[in-house]
Amino acid sequence: MFGAAAWLLLSAASLFAQNGLANPEIERRIDVLLRQMTLAEKIGQLTQYSAGAPTGPGTGRAGYSDQVAQGEIGSFLNLSGAAQTNALQRIAVERSRLKIPLLFGLDIIHGYHTIFPVPLGLASTWDPELLERAARVAAKEATAEGIRWTFSPMVDIARDARWGRIVEGAGEDPYLGSVMAAASVRGYQGARLDSADSLAACAKHFVGYGAAEAGRDYNAADMSEHRLRQVYLPPFAAAVRAGAASVMSAFNSLNAVPATADAMTLTRILRQEWGFRGLVVSDWNAVEELIAQGIATNGATAARKALLAGVDMDMESGLYQHSLRDLVRSGALPETAVDEAVRRVLRVKFALGLFDHPYTPEGLASPALQVELARQIAERSLILLKNEPVNSLPPSVTPSQNKPLLPLPSRPQTIALVGPLADSPVDMLGSWPGKGDVHTVVTLKSALQERIRQLGGRLLYAPGTEIDTASEVGFGEALKVAQGAGVTIVALGEDAARMTGEAASRASLTLPGNQQRLLETVASPGKPVVLIVFSGRPLALTWAAAHVAAIIQAWYPGIQAGPALTRVLFGDANFSGKLTVSMPRSVGQEPLYYNALKTGRPAGNVDLTRPPATEAEKYVSRYIDEINAPLFLFGYGLSYTRFTYSSLNLAGVPVSARALNDGSAELQVSATITNSGSRAGREIAQLYIGQRGTSVVLPEKELKGFSTVELAPGQSREVEFKLGREQLAFWNIAMHHEVEPSEVTVWIGPNSAEGQQAQFKIAP
Ligand code: BGC
Repeated sequence: MFGAAAWLLLSAASLFAQNGLANPEIERRIDVLLRQMTLAEKIGQLTQYSAGAPTGPGTGRAGYSDQVAQGEIGSFLNLSGAAQTNALQRIAVERSRLKIPLLFGLDIIHGYHTIFPVPLGLASTWDPELLERAARVAAKEATAEGIRWTFSPMVDIARDARWGRIVEGAGEDPYLGSVMAAASVRGYQGARLDSADSLAACAKHFVGYGAAEAGRDYNAADMSEHRLRQVYLPPFAAAVRAGAASVMSAFNSLNAVPATADAMTLTRILRQEWGFRGLVVSDWNAVEELIAQGIATNGATAARKALLAGVDMDMESGLYQHSLRDLVRSGALPETAVDEAVRRVLRVKFALGLFDHPYTPEGLASPALQVELARQIAERSLILLKNEPVNSLPPSVTPSQNKPLLPLPSRPQTIALVGPLADSPVDMLGSWPGKGDVHTVVTLKSALQERIRQLGGRLLYAPGTEIDTASEVGFGEALKVAQGAGVTIVALGEDAARMTGEAASRASLTLPGNQQRLLETVASPGKPVVLIVFSGRPLALTWAAAHVAAIIQAWYPGIQAGPALTRVLFGDANFSGKLTVSMPRSVGQEPLYYNALKTGRPAGNVDLTRPPATEAEKYVSRYIDEINAPLFLFGYGLSYTRFTYSSLNLAGVPVSARALNDGSAELQVSATITNSGSRAGREIAQLYIGQRGTSVVLPEKELKGFSTVELAPGQSREVEFKLGREQLAFWNIAMHHEVEPSEVTVWIGPNSAEGQQAQFKIAP
């Protein structure tokens, strides 16, 4: 029945065995330990507190030494530095009765010292190998400072740009999200969990957090089981399959059950269906928040419900510490449930080798920053959204030359740089900047200045405004530098710390403050303007898309923001990033995602740019005041060269659902990609399918694969994908994951709207 789940169970089992989460010797050592533990010591293993700057509403707790010595705390978050972690570890290992080591966790989201692009930028590379390398670097740097557990990757599917945490994940697509989730886990955990430089990964937030209603953080989520399984669960399943040692339960309720007390997801799906053997930690204070959510009227009930549902470790609320003992003593909670949770915590500690090597060597020089890799990844995360000769002109005027504005020529010239993000190191680090240091950041202004100096030109700089202000005092100066230059680069966007990430939902998706006005002030028709957008979410750049010659979506590129941008601006490197989120025209389109379910009244060929004039134009799924399509769609991104797709070829037909389901058949689909422009480039070719005649409604198109090709001018290459059970099965009306007889359209193309296509039938 659960064909896919059975397969998942098998592959996860072999990985768990490999990384110590299913090792008989470790299980024996846990048995021995469990027999010696008092109830208080057991509860200690389930208790985690923040020992550093809080990452949620503060509790003001401090002074943990005595509790550690008593074995009453098993884990800390937010503490780093070998000396600091060793000091507490020494108390645990040398003074506590059973010498159980502490586990130190931290949010290492896109780098520790070497800060890479934010996760949405990392995903825009469509390169799991780069992501894995970035995670490996983070693991090496963090473990050198006593951390063995990261609360990453965030694998929540995010389809609503209002939600601030969209920046922390891979975007809107479950397939891409799954590939990226697995890559992060591999990178953090390395080949073996018990290597000194392995970080235990934590897939979060389980589950449905990205579907928070109205894009408002912490809000409830409500969805069908079909959507849950088809869209929101796959990246978690992929992380588990890659051997993730832990999972974090989410803040939101899902279908009226708080995720932190949801046995259906935490136990039935995660553990029973998928065979997950690691530990589940609650999100910050989420156990106590069960009271605010109303499924508990006191702390004891909250603790009981969370533990019984499958939350092993209580992050920060203290309710396990304060309530579990009485609950067990009164018979309200079986001690076996506590034992099981303790076993999972100890399992991860053993698997990490903490019992044998609890300390981190002190006084070692920290590893050098991986500047080169940071630059390379930053370059690959940038997305060229538009590239035309000059800003849009009145219809009567034609541009004097029709060469696109970018790349800029490598000759002496005067360039104006305007905007509050042009020289803001702290914003380049993005949200969750780890231990990132603003002094390691090279901003756009400093890199550009250096480049222009080498070319013998001039850079005129004026910030023009601040990120979020109404004051226009700087506009005059900005206009002056723009008028004095051949090209103006305008660096606009969001305040990374305040407007993106956790607790940073926005009801508006326009440029904050008066930045739009600044843009309109400097971008007069016929002038060349390059807009660079630094943001943690897709913004509605509708005016810019119509009026500005060139637009780059940069997200927050990390410490090498400036060099990466300068290299693509001058064409030393080509663009290859593509969107993993749909960019809206207006906030009213949200949630907006390419893989929406088909409707009975598709807009089809109706002209949506004007209000409906006839019944045929009116009674379709549309807005009367906005078109349906995003401004820039999923998978989209330009290059300095052109790629053409041809010769789509399908092999393996005829095919039956039966043969696909039992794995005895699969199809191959291929296409030829040619670099028909004049520069070398890298293209991310995407495979989509759409199915009709199925038992449930499916999206018109769904991503099922992608492949990157690097092509010299004139060069061609074939990309080939397989279409088997994994690509063609879906959660059907009986809630089975299987292939059904259907009519399938398959596309291979440069984004979610274009490409070569073919049809085939899946017979029963
Ligand atoms: C966030 C988590 C994070 C945790 C610990 C919470 O507020 O939701 O993503 O891992 O804090 O810092």
